[in-house]
Amino acid sequence: MLDSLNGIKRTHHCDALRVADVDKEIVLIGWVLRRRDHGGLIFIDLRDKTGITQVVFSPEVDENAHNKAHDLRSEYVLAIKGKVLQRPEGMANSKLPTGEIEVYANALYVLNKSKTPPFPLDIDEAVSETLRLKYRYLDLRKPEMYKNIYVRHQICQIMRSYLNDNAFIEVETPMLTKSTPEGARDYLVPSRVNQGCFFALPQSPQLFKQILMVAGFERYYQIVRCFRDEDLRADRQPEFTQLDMEMSFIEEEDMYKLIEGLISKIFKNILGMDISAPFKRITYNDAMSLYGTDRPDTRFGMELKDLTDIAKNCGLEVFKKAATTGGVVKALNAKGMGDLSRKELDELTEFAKGFGAQGLAWVKIKEDLSWQSPIAKFFNDDEKNLVTTILDGKAGDIYFFGADNMGIVNKVLGELRLELAKKKNIIQKNQFNLLWVTDFPMFEYDSELGRYIAVHHPFTSPKEEDISLLETDPIKVRARAYDLVLNGIEVGGGSIRIHQESMQEKVFETLSITKEDAQEKFGFLLEALSFGAPPHGGIAFGLDRLVMLLQGCDTIRDVIAFPKTQKAQCMLTGAPDKVSMGQLLELHILPGWEKKV
Ligand code: AMO
Ligand code: AMP
Repeated sequence: MLDSLNGIKRTHHCDALRVADVDKEIVLIGWVLRRRDHGGLIFIDLRDKTGITQVVFSPEVDENAHNKAHDLRSEYVLAIKGKVLQRPEGMANSKLPTGEIEVYANALYVLNKSKTPPFPLDIDEAVSETLRLKYRYLDLRKPEMYKNIYVRHQICQIMRSYLNDNAFIEVETPMLTKSTPEGARDYLVPSRVNQGCFFALPQSPQLFKQILMVAGFERYYQIVRCFRDEDLRADRQPEFTQLDMEMSFIEEEDMYKLIEGLISKIFKNILGMDISAPFKRITYNDAMSLYGTDRPDTRFGMELKDLTDIAKNCGLEVFKKAATTGGVVKALNAKGMGDLSRKELDELTEFAKGFGAQGLAWVKIKEDLSWQSPIAKFFNDDEKNLVTTILDGKAGDIYFFGADNMGIVNKVLGELRLELAKKKNIIQKNQFNLLWVTDFPMFEYDSELGRYIAVHHPFTSPKEEDISLLETDPIKVRARAYDLVLNGIEVGGGSIRIHQESMQEKVFETLSITKEDAQEKFGFLLEALSFGAPPHGGIAFGLDRLVMLLQGCDTIRDVIAFPKTQKAQCMLTGAPDKVSMGQLLELHILPGWEKKV
């Protein structure tokens, strides 16, 4: 027989009681995390979204409650009335905030029973993620999961209040819309009433927010869902959330200042940390050259150095070849890591090969600064000294070399740098490095497509001084684009936009988008730009990524209430799922629909 609430109201949450509350008569409501039956005394860890309190049932306090407590099992829902007592000497649990007290129950109400949960909800149990996602409501019962979602909520509130204070307004834009190119595949939605036509779910509200600027709104934001059908990783979901914003009559510096204010406020309010602004900046070229990536993790050094000139004359054929045929030779100094074993070096070589390297040459620096390495014999003393000067080599260091085309060398050494930092645990916890990456190229050449593609998106403005290069040397044109990188993860990206129709047409042309194609896909934008569009720019943040980093989680799935798996499936509901033939025919997407209608 279950009990009902009958007017019972909780007085405290399960994380609230402390020694100062001793002797209070209280009411707790929550779920049974654990039960320990010591015959005489029965102990329950009672849990709600905030935490855990130990509840004790003693026949001397209330015989009826004690009897009922025998039948309690994990995840039963209870209300208990009782008195707060200090735990006996030596019984305190320093791991629990409530660990110095316990509640002696004098009444127990069982509000619901539970089947045995498919996995224990104890904090330190490792459980397969598929199971956690299938029973997400159980997984989310853990206070640390609730905390992730709660902090996400808080961050959204800070964003809203900061932007509201800065004269932004939140505007919703359509979910059923026309495809916008953000570089991923679209999710398509067939239209029943417009036969053979499809909506695309937005990859971002990019064009709508620009149209709002043309409409004279001046300051827009939205915390908005975006959809991208792309290969998933720990920091990518098929549907994810952006803080999206756009402003008129601004330039890069205005944007940096506004965002630095917002991010500082988030760090202060959520982590109690003072972040120093202005944030550091690095150009795209410097980022690639020093870190091999456009989103460098600057919490540690180990920068890449260019040794191409030295390699031109060395005796090692692979190096010489790369250096003299348009490739590069670069190296990094893993300081103090000269103790890496042969086995570890072989593993690192395999790791490098996974990113396209042909090999991974290394040099260990001995006590007398001489080289211990299979490639030592290919360098004369002058070359060795020069390399050591450039790499600032000291006894106990190890250098790693990459020789190939620039793209591969940067990729390999960039990834190796991160791998070494992880392997040797050199990144301190709770360190947050924020970095603006600027001066991105406008275009890159896609050899598969045989044409230029936009590095950001085609609505990004070129730098004024580079406009003349659009026709002659597009690859040299720099964009007025900026990314915000936090600990090596791109948390935000945006740009100053093109606001003149003729410039937008010129950029489409460089991208080999024909006039007809441009009209068909973006005619509405081009037309809007022709009606007095103001200069404008914006940015979008990956909310999930930001929350993940602030909460110290390894994946964005831990900060999304109902995330999808790496295979873009929802384990809870079973989506995506098959649908009936009737539905397909109605949507005109199967051969034969003509006969049905
Ligand atoms: P961009 O494509 O760089 O820019 O996206 C902005 C930010 O969104 C986050 N993000 C993602 N997060 C989780 N899963 C994904 N699949 C995913 N893809 C992107 C990243 C990224 O920095 N319209 C432009 C913005 C602008 O120009 O104003 C845009 O969407 O943190
Ligand atoms: P090899 O002369 O092929 O035995 O190579 C000598 C060393 O150079 C080995 O440690 C290889 O792993 C390394 N190596 C070979 N090719 C490259 C390359 N393209 N870049 C960096 N190291 C390489």
